[in-house]
Amino acid sequence: MTTTTEPTTGNRKITIFDTTLRDGEQSPGASITPEQKIVLARQLAKLGVDAIEPGFPISSPGDFAAVQQISRELQGVEIVGFARALKPDIDAAIRATQDAGLRRLHLFISSSQILLEHQLRKSQDQVVRMAREMVAYAKQFVDRIEFSPMDASRTGEAFLFELVEAVIEEGATTINIPDTMGYALPDEYGRMFRRVREHVRGSDRAVYSAHCHNDLGMAVANSIAAIQAGVSQVEVTINGIGERAGNCSLEELVMAIETRQEALGVETGIVLPELYETSRLVSRMMHFPIAYNKPIVGRNAFQHESGIHQDGLLKNRNTFEIMDPEALGIPRNMIILGKHSGRHAVMHRVSEFGIELQNEQLEELFARFKTKADVQKIVTDDELLRLVGSTINRTLERFKLADVQVVTSSRKHRVASVSIVDAVAGEERTNSATAEGSVEALIRCIKASMPFELEFIDLELQSMAHGEHAQAEAAVEIAVDGRPYRGSAMDQDVVLAVARACLSACNQAARALVAAEA
Ligand code: KIV
Ligand code: ZN
Repeated sequence: MTTTTEPTTGNRKITIFDTTLRDGEQSPGASITPEQKIVLARQLAKLGVDAIEPGFPISSPGDFAAVQQISRELQGVEIVGFARALKPDIDAAIRATQDAGLRRLHLFISSSQILLEHQLRKSQDQVVRMAREMVAYAKQFVDRIEFSPMDASRTGEAFLFELVEAVIEEGATTINIPDTMGYALPDEYGRMFRRVREHVRGSDRAVYSAHCHNDLGMAVANSIAAIQAGVSQVEVTINGIGERAGNCSLEELVMAIETRQEALGVETGIVLPELYETSRLVSRMMHFPIAYNKPIVGRNAFQHESGIHQDGLLKNRNTFEIMDPEALGIPRNMIILGKHSGRHAVMHRVSEFGIELQNEQLEELFARFKTKADVQKIVTDDELLRLVGSTINRTLERFKLADVQVVTSSRKHRVASVSIVDAVAGEERTNSATAEGSVEALIRCIKASMPFELEFIDLELQSMAHGEHAQAEAAVEIAVDGRPYRGSAMDQDVVLAVARACLSACNQAARALVAAEA
């Protein structure tokens, strides 16, 4: 029943059903415009997901239009129209997905006693009747029908079996058994699939799907348990976003499958190098920050603070890493140096800048580095370069911030003026700009000062401490000639932190351009 490329290794293929744009969008504050949905859907297709649930067509004209356009544009991926077991919902989902190359309808209805009594206000008999009628109705238009009994893991077995049997009889092709409230334990969740498949008549006429929420932090573990119990599809979201504590995270599940393939005997068609970019795009567009310690895509996920770990890692990556971040599209320079870093790691980073140091210079640099790292949590590339420069009495950065002035006002536009020294051109350039925000005005000035075209991609701001003396940490991403460069910096002044981070990224771009010419 899978629609995509067959496995290449003899492993069982798991269908990755992405619901970032439907269940994920139900995260408080994460909603996005129809245009943004289309951009994200394109990236999901590039990531290699098998099915995309792009929204809830009946819920708004915008969602309808987004599902419709995604169906028209992404002909190579299965598009899923989401609907309650109600005719108007089904009609909307059918119309919205009309032009898809391959489509499926996903119908759901509540099944647990507590939801029947207090939310749906229907009896079990009425629910079975509605489910039957609506699956039969939808089946006239679309062959591939997925059915979800909502809150299945808190539904008694007898009723769950009865409902599943009824919809299979009417032609449901995928049975999705959601752990809607994130309540199940892994062994219970896996057992539920085994029991349904053993006890429901006609169970082998459908394929099975897991859909787990993360309220108790078990969404990935439960999805793995379901895979071990034989399901062939898992419903996931990028960065695990979704209602309340979210859904099973695509990147965590896929990397668990990838890393423990021998134990699990399954594989996915996900294009691993697209994982990081997809995660960043979702986080940016949905204004949903990623926790530093989030597995796979969190900024600390591949950072090794301890000198022992860093040293081992530089000798052989497998000592302290079970995954290779670069294979997931995560740039190595995300590994940030801090006070626990050892000589070896600092030396390695300096050599990545193309700088060779004598032994005494390295000792001196390391002492300066440790002093710096003691007073702040991390030492950015930019600061490390300044330390190297002062150790060898040379300016290593092409661009240096000479001055920044920003005039902010609650009535008028913000005005910025930035002076940058360009060591290669041997001049100081000053540019001024106005904009609606201080950062925007600042960035316009920096762009105007650069000898190359740069695109400002992303800015992340964090407060590094509490109180009046809090330091702001800015992480900026720019692109030059389509290549991304990241810079980060800390300052007590937010605007200065942004300016320094941006200049650090510009300096990296300048170094890369020189290296490319050489
Ligand atoms: O969590 C859930 O139960 C759902 C469905 C309605 C599939 O998102
Ligand atoms: Zn859900």
